[in-house]
Amino acid sequence: MSLKNHKILLGISGGIAAYKSCLLIRLLVKAGAEVKVVLTKAGAQFVTKTTLETLSGNPVACEMFPPAQFVGTHHISYAEWADLIVLAPATANLIGKIANGIADDLLTTLVMAKQSAVMIAPAMNTEMYNNPIVQENIAKLKERGYLFLAPASGELACGSEGVGRLAEPEEIFTTIERYFQKSASLAGKRVVVTAGPTRERIDPVRYISNFSSGKMGYALATEAVDRGAEVVLISGLTALVAPAGVRLIPIESAAQLQKKVKSEFARADILIMAAAVADFRPAETAKRKLGDPVPAQIKLKPNPDILAEVGRSKKKSQVTVGFALEVGASKANALRKLKEKNLDLIVMNDPTVKGAEFGGDYNIATIYPGDGGEWQLARMTKRELAAVILDKIEEKLATGGA
Ligand code: CTP
Repeated sequence: MSLKNHKILLGISGGIAAYKSCLLIRLLVKAGAEVKVVLTKAGAQFVTKTTLETLSGNPVACEMFPPAQFVGTHHISYAEWADLIVLAPATANLIGKIANGIADDLLTTLVMAKQSAVMIAPAMNTEMYNNPIVQENIAKLKERGYLFLAPASGELACGSEGVGRLAEPEEIFTTIERYFQKSASLAGKRVVVTAGPTRERIDPVRYISNFSSGKMGYALATEAVDRGAEVVLISGLTALVAPAGVRLIPIESAAQLQKKVKSEFARADILIMAAAVADFRPAETAKRKLGDPVPAQIKLKPNPDILAEVGRSKKKSQVTVGFALEVGASKANALRKLKEKNLDLIVMNDPTVKGAEFGGDYNIATIYPGDGGEWQLARMTKRELAAVILDKIEEKLATGGA
């Protein structure tokens, strides 16, 4: 694949594996990419500016405030310029700073100025890599969508054997190629994602709702944006910040969600219903605050099944995906919902399972594509699950939808 017109900013921090980055630059430049290098102070102990400038064909930046040079806001312009930032090698120190919001040099500052498209290739001694603090930092960054290239196992510069070797330049190069293939994979597609809980008013101050955090839906919206899609996120109230690049439509109740889904679905290629829709609502919303006397009962009535309704008007080219929250993970129930709602895929998960609780960052899911297939997935972050779901959707689109 040609990398022509792709701009890659390579950040090199202080590790002996920095020499491998020279080979990586050669591969990238050969494939047509434009490469700019930012070197940390410690990185400059391992490779020289002259080597990197010669290989990349561009000036190499090291300092936040270089003497005798107009600086302006070059940390921002670097971040804006780059289609992808690659940090290779990334030391424990660099990863720790990014994970904890420290921006005390040019590289960490420009990484902070970029909220997506950052790929990190760690390289360090095995003890350091396995240190729970480093592992926690990596997990935190992964959850926020930073991409990681796992280090290899083998002989390390310190003489020991184990995990921590920087991935080989060819492997980093192939991952970058795949990233660009993927980042355009949903270009031109309209994706509607619903997320979070609905609230059904009892009276002016009370409501019926559920524990949905919205994290799965937000992860799906982020992943779809990263793949180049035009994304509409219809969301109940959550504590989350909408990912950059999506059109957010806030809703409160199932009735409002239904209205918005209906109008947005008409122009959509893909609908993913990750919202936890309340199945019922008070038959009437009291005009005044209830309490005196305390109502012995609150009459409820069912909410419309939004996905089932959409399923009835769905065109052949449209792909719809639902979630089945099944306590006890009932495959039969999930398959019934898949059929009743005319879905292309259903993602079943059980929030009572340890490690995949409501509101957490992880999920354990099984995906059913409706053709008898079944993918039982391991415990993974919601962001990782979002990527798997979108891969499956892309396969469906490639074979002509439902
Ligand atoms: N859903 C919907 N409208 C509803 C209820 C659910 O569109 N009124 C969607 C959810 O967003 C989800 C899927 O349907 O994608 C399945 O939701 P779930 O709550 O698991 O199932 P229900 O259809 O509500 O069935 P049950 O209550 O029997 O489990």
